[in-house]
Amino acid sequence: MATVVLFLSLSIFLLTGSIAEAWRPWPSTALNTTGISGLSPAELGSSKKFEGSSEFVKLLYHMGPVLTSNVTVHPIWYGQWAPEQKRILRTFLRSISDSSVRGPSVASWWKTVRLYTDQTGSNISANVILGEEKNDRGLSHGTSLTRLSIQSVIKDAITASTKPLPINTRGGLYLVLTSPEVAVENFCGQVCGFHYFTYPSIVGYTLPYAWVGNSHGRCPEVCAYPFAVPSYIPSAKAEMPPNGDVGVDGMVSVVAHELAEMASNPLVNAWYAGGDPSFPTEIADLCEGIYGTGGGGAYTGQLLVDGQSGAAYNLNGVGGRKFLVQWIWNPYLNYCSGPNALDR
Ligand SMILES: *[C@@H]1O[C@H](CO)[C@@H](O)[C@H](O)[C@H]1NC(C)=O
Ligand SMILES: *[C@@H]1O[C@H](CO)[C@@H](O)[C@H](O)[C@H]1NC(C)=O
Ligand SMILES: *[C@@H]1O[C@H](CO)[C@@H](O)[C@H](O)[C@H]1NC(C)=O
Repeated sequence: MATVVLFLSLSIFLLTGSIAEAWRPWPSTALNTTGISGLSPAELGSSKKFEGSSEFVKLLYHMGPVLTSNVTVHPIWYGQWAPEQKRILRTFLRSISDSSVRGPSVASWWKTVRLYTDQTGSNISANVILGEEKNDRGLSHGTSLTRLSIQSVIKDAITASTKPLPINTRGGLYLVLTSPEVAVENFCGQVCGFHYFTYPSIVGYTLPYAWVGNSHGRCPEVCAYPFAVPSYIPSAKAEMPPNGDVGVDGMVSVVAHELAEMASNPLVNAWYAGGDPSFPTEIADLCEGIYGTGGGGAYTGQLLVDGQSGAAYNLNGVGGRKFLVQWIWNPYLNYCSGPNALDR
């Protein structure tokens, strides 16, 4: 459901020893080449925490719809956005369906999402299209939003007197993106983004939507990790963001997380784990913080490094852009997977 705070779940794991929600088996051959968190391959290999995760994860299909026809994403830019910041996020969205990009590509990352089907056996769509956009520069609902007032922002966007967003009930997704000056209920404390659907009583329609905030100046060490790291971990070193913008490069993975979950659980009655539909654990929740082979806890897993800038990334996008995007739960492998896995 929500992109919850990485360190929150990590510390719960460390403090209580309860099951972590995100890990994957370690390919024994790859381990030898990497020094991970100071643990030897033997230590990792013998740890049940990093393998056999399927015994804990019961991801179930609850019979609701998934997005099997063209998906159209409608960004709503709430607050102040620089043209380059919009370009980074738009380019990511445009990359999802461009299979001509050299691997590991954003489009190949979406293939894991496509493994999920509805009752009829139809897969999630390969076509994710960047649709009409709306600016809300004047912060129509102020600088402090709640989950419900975000729905009012969407209502304003689809009922605006000039260039309203289309009301797209067939695969339309509404993506409210807030700039750093905007506080959102639970932002930083518990969440970096969430998705849900709008209420007809507020918006007039039931439309899947998500919110993702720019954490720059607020909590990048929480929501733009690993491009910013918490000061209480003195040994941690921040990675360089591939598009030069800590806040926005951090948003890319949260946007990806919410899109994957909206496609597989748009009305929160399709694919999720856990008995409580108020707190579903969805296909991206299971892999939060995992971007490469060996990832789990505070370790991102094996990343690629841009030869010129030294930036960390794991996926190629259109126009030579690079992105760092978390992995997705693979229902066949029963662990998190992505196209930059070393054991493919
Ligand atoms: C790592 O790999 C090398 C060569 O492939 C091998 O000689 C060495 O024993 C391996 N080390 C461990 C710890 O497995
Ligand atoms: C879906 O998107 C593809 C590619 O953009 C387009 O060719 C096709 O006509 C669309 N289908 C529908 C039903 O809109
Ligand atoms: C569609 O989903 C099925 C079932 O998960 C899977 O076997 C198949 O590979 C998927 N097809 C595509 C194109 O992803």
